[in-house]
Amino acid sequence: GLPTEVTIYEVGPRDGLQNESALVPTDVKAEFVRRLLAAGLPIVEATSFVHPKWVPQLADAADLMELLGEAGRDCPVLVPNERGLDRALELGAKHIAIFGSATETFAQKNLNRSLDEQFAMFEPTVRRARDAGLDVRAYVSMCFGDPWEGDVPVDQVVDVGKRLFDLGASQLSLGDTIGVGTAGHVTALVQAFVQAGMEIDQLAMHFHDTYGQALANTYAALQAGITTYDASAGGLGGCPYAKSATGNLATEDLVWMLRGLGIECGVDLQQVVDTSVWMAGHLGRPSPSAVVRALA
Ligand code: HMG
Ligand code: MG
Repeated sequence: GLPTEVTIYEVGPRDGLQNESALVPTDVKAEFVRRLLAAGLPIVEATSFVHPKWVPQLADAADLMELLGEAGRDCPVLVPNERGLDRALELGAKHIAIFGSATETFAQKNLNRSLDEQFAMFEPTVRRARDAGLDVRAYVSMCFGDPWEGDVPVDQVVDVGKRLFDLGASQLSLGDTIGVGTAGHVTALVQAFVQAGMEIDQLAMHFHDTYGQALANTYAALQAGITTYDASAGGLGGCPYAKSATGNLATEDLVWMLRGLGIECGVDLQQVVDTSVWMAGHLGRPSPSAVVRALA
């Protein structure tokens, strides 16, 4: 049967905003994070300590962390390398997330590293983070398809994912960066990771809704026993270095489906909807989420 409880890992302030061209003021971002926490989301990824020129929207990461204070230190932040780790440590971050690529082309486009070189960048980053007592999540991108390389073999994804996880992560998030995955593929990929020795509760799913498959894919993952799902309030999101990437699975769409299935997630749906409507006002366009539109 399906799990009775799942954890939603909210990525709106990070994945959601990183692709927005309109600059969102830091105090609005802080309010976004606070409202999501107040709505009952247990984990809110706040920002990225990446190169500010690569993702200008999140160049205010340090200011945001300072504004958030204690609450911010409990929020995971993206960190690609030792320089990013130093910046995050200075602000007292307790949870970081590294982000690798399952494909050669995306490793180069997103990290300026080859597929193999990315591990040399992450290895000392994770080691030093763990030595400092931090929790580390690992993302692997392009798990279901790559805009430049097309299909990505399951074995290749499992190999990269395990290598990233084995650096010392506590969780591996499987990213469908451009939203091309379908339900049968999800089942096969999760099965392959389990066969390779991963525990089901070490895996999280990160769906983008580009092709409208995110909820169907989530249902397949629920059937496989996965209990952590990344989602973005209002369905914001996309990676600026992944051609054709659009919004993440909307948190509201996910909560609506979970509620119908009787699966607990501890989130107040209306509060998330209200937050997304408020954020849409700042971004100057309506949320792409069907549930937000229905409940607004
Ligand atoms: P690089 O240019 O190769 O960096 O970029 P470098 O190591 O050669 O260093 C060059 C200069 O940058 C140096 O400064 C460094 O100090 C500085 P200089 O000595 O020349 O004055 N530098 C930094 N400054 C601030 N913070 C840092 C940092 N690192 C170096 N962290 C790098 C390599 C990884 C930094 C770059 O490629 C980068 O920032 N990439 C980030 C791209 C990104 O954020 N993409 C979006 C997130 S991933 C995603 O969205 C997918 C996900 O959602 C899952 C899914 O959907 O699949 C997670
Ligand atoms: Mg993403």
